[in-house]
Amino acid sequence: MANEFNLNRPRFLDGERLFLTPYLIEDMDKHFQWRNDYELLFYDGGNIRPKTQVAVKERLERVLKDKSQIPLSIILKESGEHIGLIVIYAIDERQRYCSWGIILDSQYHQKGYGKQAARLIIDYVFLDLGFQRLKSDTHEKNIPSQRLQESLGFVKEGVLRNEKYIRGKYVNDIIYGMIREDYDRNYGK
Ligand SMILES: CC(C)(COP(=O)(O)OP(=O)(O)OC[C@H]1O[C@@H](n2cnc3c(N)ncnc32)[C@H](O)[C@@H]1OP(=O)(O)O)[C@@H](O)C(=O)NCCC(=O)NCCS
Repeated sequence: MANEFNLNRPRFLDGERLFLTPYLIEDMDKHFQWRNDYELLFYDGGNIRPKTQVAVKERLERVLKDKSQIPLSIILKESGEHIGLIVIYAIDERQRYCSWGIILDSQYHQKGYGKQAARLIIDYVFLDLGFQRLKSDTHEKNIPSQRLQESLGFVKEGVLRNEKYIRGKYVNDIIYGMIREDYDRNYGK
């Protein structure tokens, strides 16, 4: 059955198969699951400790108040399913750059949703915000994320050696960037 509540939410950035809508605290049930999904945490490369519901809620409430971040829920148009979170963060108005990150529920991987959601964010950052640079990073064991960045036209700009501790080993972190020239070359009309 379609999720009518989600389907009626504002379609801030509208794609073909999904739309991005401002994150609501009501979205946190899914988020609680994702923040405790061992595989997702491995890919994310972050804190591997289990998170209580209270801790997840507190973090989200901080994010929702933080003006340097824009968290958006990813909703499937067909079903209204809330399948992930995409966030623009570390917004620097003076330098005109920001970073972005994404997490998708495991059952929706490799269906093109990550790329479609990211494309909406990329256009928003370069066309609407008028920024000159978009950044991201991922650890070297996260092949899906590297493939996603590369297929979107991000350029590998550097490597932070032994930046992340993942399953008993220190691994490198890869820094990606897209500058306006890349954007115009890849997506310019
Ligand atoms: C990274 C992530 C968002 C990718 O989203 P996705 O919807 O599965 O990716 P898509 O289906 O849109 O695929 C995008 C591209 O990456 C490639 N790709 C995606 N997953 C892949 C995998 N497991 N192995 C190889 N290539 C993969 C696709 O083939 C596609 O390439 P193409 O456009 O050249 O055909 C998703 O795997 C995820 O949520 N991972 C966990 C959280 C995470 O790692 N976030 C990033 C942290 S930095």
